[in-house]
Amino acid sequence: MSLLTTQNLSVMYGKIRALEGINLTVEPGQIVALVGANGAGKTTLLKTLSGLLTPVSGTIHFEGKEITTASADTRVRSGIAQVPEGRGLFGILSVEDNLLLGAYTRNDHEIHNDLESVYTRFPILHDKRHDYAGTLSGGQQQMVAVGRALMSRPRLLLLDEPSMGLAPIIVEEIFATIRELNNAGTTIFLVEQNARLALKNSHYTYVLENGTIVKEGKSKDLLNDPAIIEAYLGG
Ligand SMILES: Nc1ncnc2c1ncn2[C@@H]1O[C@H](COP(=O)(O)OP(=O)(O)OP(=O)(O)O)[C@@H](O)[C@H]1O
Ligand SMILES: [Mg+2]
Repeated sequence: MSLLTTQNLSVMYGKIRALEGINLTVEPGQIVALVGANGAGKTTLLKTLSGLLTPVSGTIHFEGKEITTASADTRVRSGIAQVPEGRGLFGILSVEDNLLLGAYTRNDHEIHNDLESVYTRFPILHDKRHDYAGTLSGGQQQMVAVGRALMSRPRLLLLDEPSMGLAPIIVEEIFATIRELNNAGTTIFLVEQNARLALKNSHYTYVLENGTIVKEGKSKDLLNDPAIIEAYLGG
């Protein structure tokens, strides 16, 4: 069974159609990328998957269950977590409080252990756990954003432009983390404007233009596709 599917999903902002007829399949265990230019609708699609936007038509299924109109909370509880564009941290809360916010839907006794796991994955966050999140570097803030999402124990992690605004060496570190999380069993849906980075770090890719999917395929095939090279990989 696919982990996530959408059928014919359309989303509007008032009278403006932002997404039209989106059909996606995310297989468990994969990294699936969504690439597209500024304003193509990538963030709109992620927000629709995480429940922050409701589609005007179409359906979304997660692990076989329809979640099209489920609240964002319900989706977090059922195993979907989003790392938003721009990270969405609370700058005047501590690193640790930001991480704990990711566990807001839980009341079990494992939360502390999961916090320790985040600190094991990102030791710098342990060192800085009492600092305001707003004082961290961009890369460290991205670690907090990813760590916060992990605190809900997601089976599907939605990442919106994790490379944005980061130096190349930091981007490499973030992508190494994404690959590690995937190897440990988390399925990843990755939005990226940097198409080369997305194609090199994913199994399957969808290309979004003006709110519709214009191409999809195995990432390694799209890397050699002349039309993709011309339009997205700088010739
Ligand atoms: N709240 C909103 N109200 C009205 N229109 C919106 C709203 N948010 C986004 N849009 C429009 O919807 C379209 C898709 O925007 P979206 O943010 O999903 O694109 P994106 O692919 O994520 O772009 P970027 O690469 O810049 O993040 C754009 O034309 C945008 O102007
Ligand atoms: Mg966006």
